[in-house]
Amino acid sequence: MVSTFPNPASIDLSRVRLAVRSLQPQLVEWRRRLHQKPELGFKEKLTAEFISQKLQEWGIDHQNGIAQTGIVATIKGSKPGTEKVLAIRADMDALPIQELNEVPYCSQHNGVMHACGHDGHTAIALGTAYYLNQHREDFAGTVKIIFQPAEEGPGGAKPMVEAGVLKNPDVDAIIGLHLWNNLPLGMVGVRSGALMAAVELFDCTIFGKGGHGAIPHQTVDSIVVAAQIVNALQTIVARNVNPIDSAVVTVGALHAGTTHNVIADTGSMKGTVRYFNPAYKGFFKQRIEQTIAGICQSHGAKYDLRYQELYPPVINDATMAELVRSQAIEVIETPVGIVPECQTMGGEDMSFFLEEVPGCYFFLGSANPEKDLAYPHHHPRFDFDETALAMGVEIFVRCVEKFFS
Ligand code: NI
Repeated sequence: MVSTFPNPASIDLSRVRLAVRSLQPQLVEWRRRLHQKPELGFKEKLTAEFISQKLQEWGIDHQNGIAQTGIVATIKGSKPGTEKVLAIRADMDALPIQELNEVPYCSQHNGVMHACGHDGHTAIALGTAYYLNQHREDFAGTVKIIFQPAEEGPGGAKPMVEAGVLKNPDVDAIIGLHLWNNLPLGMVGVRSGALMAAVELFDCTIFGKGGHGAIPHQTVDSIVVAAQIVNALQTIVARNVNPIDSAVVTVGALHAGTTHNVIADTGSMKGTVRYFNPAYKGFFKQRIEQTIAGICQSHGAKYDLRYQELYPPVINDATMAELVRSQAIEVIETPVGIVPECQTMGGEDMSFFLEEVPGCYFFLGSANPEKDLAYPHHHPRFDFDETALAMGVEIFVRCVEKFFS
């Protein structure tokens, strides 16, 4: 671990840090409370109630029920200087996973778990709202805090954008973070340009002609056709994508046939496509269909292809990435802890906000192997070092003050 946070000997006792650090017990309490009551996408009823109740208690203007369970809080600074608006986005949904951790704040909802850290994101956003509301005199402009449902699917960002959360007052820029167990506590992954990949999905059924395993000439073998398709799909990345660009085509499921001596009538496959460069939008859909159609035609098979363009790539604006980087350095106290090589082919619907306004999404290191807090995201034993909560609030608050200064 590179950072010395939270070693008291090295603490810069700045105004923001002191006040944010005093919030740590509440941040932990809120996070654990949310962790105990995880809810799946668009079902975040208790979560939304909890957030709304806190905002109400603190006298913060907010609107509930946006894109079903989403909430937007608005906090206006009292320092003169600018009318600009900065949005901060936090997702709040959990996953259909049975928690295996044995901690006092374990999930109380059977088969549902905050296994990605969105409970932490919600606590950080609440802490940021609380702090900013208490310190309105320290910033000009307006902050919108967006509590978004259903990041894990089917996606709450797009309906929130469609519901107008970036309008009235119009948002100039947006920031957001993901607690990240791929990085140790004290490191921050931030970069200009692509951070996370576009996510596309396909489902394909091959219709051949079944028959006797010993009489193949009377059949159209859907297994042979499917096997050729799986191989040919690999050549799209290898031969059609510019080698300077990164992309993945994965066939994750392939099913056909029942027994030794029967030629399978139909076969089916499921796969996913990932890429960073937005110029490839539509490209994979077209190439995959051409490949499947050509192979099916050459064998006399038919096919049905369902293709979904789920999330666009997460692309950070250079100026906003520099803003986050400069403020994160202040929080972790060392530029060595900033990791620009943090791209992942994972996806995030933060991208829908970033398509509308410039912004920066970043990773906040949260793993701590010494405390056995290093399981990967979506693992039934996932948990993170809660020290990261105050760090997240401090980065957000510093970005707010800097953005409006
Ligand atoms: Ni997540």
